[in-house]
This record gives sequence, structure tokens and C-alpha cells, in this order.
Amino acid sequence: MKKIVISTGGGDAPGLNAVIYAVVKSSHARGWEVYGSRSGYLGLLNLDEMVRLTPEMVADITSTGGTIIGSTNKGDPFAMPIENLAGEVEIHDVSDRVMKNFKRMGFGCHIAVGGDGSLEIAHRFAIEKGMPVIGVPKTIDNDLEATQLTFGFDTAVSTATEALDKLHSTAKSHDRVMVVEVMGRDSGWIAMNSGISGGADIILIPEIPFDMDEVCKKLDDNELHGKDYAIVVVAEGAKAQNQEVIHKGNGEIGRAEKILGGIGEWVAKEIRARTGKDTRSLVLGHLQRGGSPTTFDRLLALRFGAMAVRLAEEGKFDHMVALSGDSMTSVPLAEAIKKRKKVPVNGNRVKTAREIGICMGEAGELEATEKMVTGCAC
Ligand code: F6P
Repeated sequence: MKKIVISTGGGDAPGLNAVIYAVVKSSHARGWEVYGSRSGYLGLLNLDEMVRLTPEMVADITSTGGTIIGSTNKGDPFAMPIENLAGEVEIHDVSDRVMKNFKRMGFGCHIAVGGDGSLEIAHRFAIEKGMPVIGVPKTIDNDLEATQLTFGFDTAVSTATEALDKLHSTAKSHDRVMVVEVMGRDSGWIAMNSGISGGADIILIPEIPFDMDEVCKKLDDNELHGKDYAIVVVAEGAKAQNQEVIHKGNGEIGRAEKILGGIGEWVAKEIRARTGKDTRSLVLGHLQRGGSPTTFDRLLALRFGAMAVRLAEEGKFDHMVALSGDSMTSVPLAEAIKKRKKVPVNGNRVKTAREIGICMGEAGELEATEKMVTGCAC
């Protein structure tokens, strides 16, 4: 092994630069060269977009957000949107060109850092084209089943929690209901962790379709107990019972998934209409993906990067590095992309939330929780 290439694909996450740092430094220690493919596979498609990464170049990047080699979520080489001479966008399979350049550069391994979509592409390259690939899991959503945690998640949760902390005083001053929409796609991890830590009254997650009657009942209950304001955390993928997820359409060409967003405003309007309470909504959005990674995310990202190089040395390709307990491990990419990790509806977080008086929006929940907490069966 002499030369490896690293790419970062999908939405960025704090900690990507720390992975790059660890890959460059631990490869250098073995006498290997590292190249960065800009914007996902763009560098592998067009070698002008390939950059040599030296230890000097990555010296100060561990604490920085974003990715020094750029990222994209519409760059699947098996279905690449390309503009033709008439200015129309056509979808082409350019995976063979990627492989040709990969071989031309003499790469012995591709370290693909990404979420579910990027890891699926990496796996296709491994099985269909024979590319020696190692995956590194990245997503603020923490929705990959095969690893206990992904880097970026802790930073996103810290940002969201800090925002909730700040909202308490203004909500209280105005006796308002503040509805905060957080990211996470189809998983409620960010909402759950930040909501519990940030003192939310109500948390709505995709895993538990909610009932607006229950949400309003909780607000009334708050008032009965002398609390005239409330904080509601809504995951972007949450939906009311018997309704579809609210989204903003497909977004950019070449991107399969819908752009989520709008549920926070919907919930705020419903609360206002049903209770007459003064209500405001805000979307935390990409703030959750920005900024410096927390110490936890940095360390996890550095450990992932070093582990990826170790796997490359062992020749353990078509695998993804993963966290299991406190250990670094690896799982076959085929396994890693199979299942999304959801918040267990009967798990400890949901239980804790209910026991400390947080409403999860489920029908009949308030009464059930009262019984559970007081131990009264009547
Ligand atoms: O997967 C990470 C994520 O931040 C999701 O939580 C969110 O739905 C999506 O990416 C936003 O994507 P974009 O940056 O393309 O708007």
C-alpha cells in the first residue's frame, strides 16, 4: 500500500476534518501518500480536482468544522447529473471513469467518509467494480445502526441544547410557546437528546406519530401547575397521526431524498389555533452542522480515521469502521447500510422523558404517565 484516496460525501458534519487529519498522519507514519478527492467523487472523475494531502496541510484542522476537501449530496457516479450541450441535465453512469482514474493514480484504497447514501455508493464500487473501499460513518443524525455513535451528532446535540437553554428566558418573559424544529431526518435522536437535556416540555419524534390533542393537553396541564410558557422540540421528520411527513420537495437534481422541513411551523400554528396561546416557531437548521466539533466528536473522528488506516493495512476492504462500547471495530459495508437506527419507543430515553414530565405527544399518554409515576392504577 503506497497511496490512498479519501473522500467526504453527503451533508457535512463536525469532525470530518479530524478524520482527514488522522488518515493523513497515520498513513504518513507508514510511509504512505494520501490524496483528497474534492466534493465526493469529483476528484476521482476529474484529476484536476484531486489534491495531495500532506501532514503540513492538515496541521491545524482537527478543531475546525466542515471539510477541507468539500462535500456534496448529489454526486453519485452511478447516477451523475450532467448538463448536455442543450443545457439539459441528463443522468449518466460515470463509475467506470472513476475506476479508470483510481487505477491510473495507483491508489490501493479509498477511504469513503459518509452517511448512509455515500456508504451505499462505496459498497457498490466495492462489489461491482472491485474498488478496495473502507467506510467511515458520518452523520449528525446518528441514524446508522451498525455503529453505536457517529461523529457530528454530539456537536449537533450540544448546539441544539444551547439554543433551548437560551429560549427558556424569552419564552418565560412572554408566556409563550416556543416550537423548535431540529434536524435528524427519519430518526429522533437529536430531538430526544437535546429536548431532554434542554428542559423541553414536549418532544415530538418520527418514531412516535403525535396527537395534537395530547400536545395541547400538556400545555393546559402546565398552566394548571402555574407554568404559562413551554418549549416544544420537533424533529424535522416527525408527523402527526394519520398525516404524512411535511417536506419541501426533492431539491437538487441528482438527489433522491426529499428536503424535510416545515413541521415546526405547522405545530406552532395548530397550537395557536387550538389554544389561543402566543406561539413562535424557529428552525435551527444548518447551525446544527456548523462550527467546531466537540471534544467527544473530535476524539471519535480521530479514532475512526486511525482505525480506517489500520483496516487498509490489514486489507480488510468493503468494511466500515464502527464504535462498539468503547472499542473500535469494523462491520461489512453490506451490513452497515442495511438498517437505520431509530429511537426505541420503549427505550430508556423515552422512559426518562416521560418520568420527568416531558410529553411525547402520544394519545392517552398524560394519564398513563401520571399512573406510572404515582404508581396509582386507578
Ligand atoms: O443528514 C444530515 C442532514 O443535516 C439532515 O439532518 C437534514 O435533513 C439534511 O442533512 C439537510 O440536507 P441539506 O444540507 O442538503 O439541506
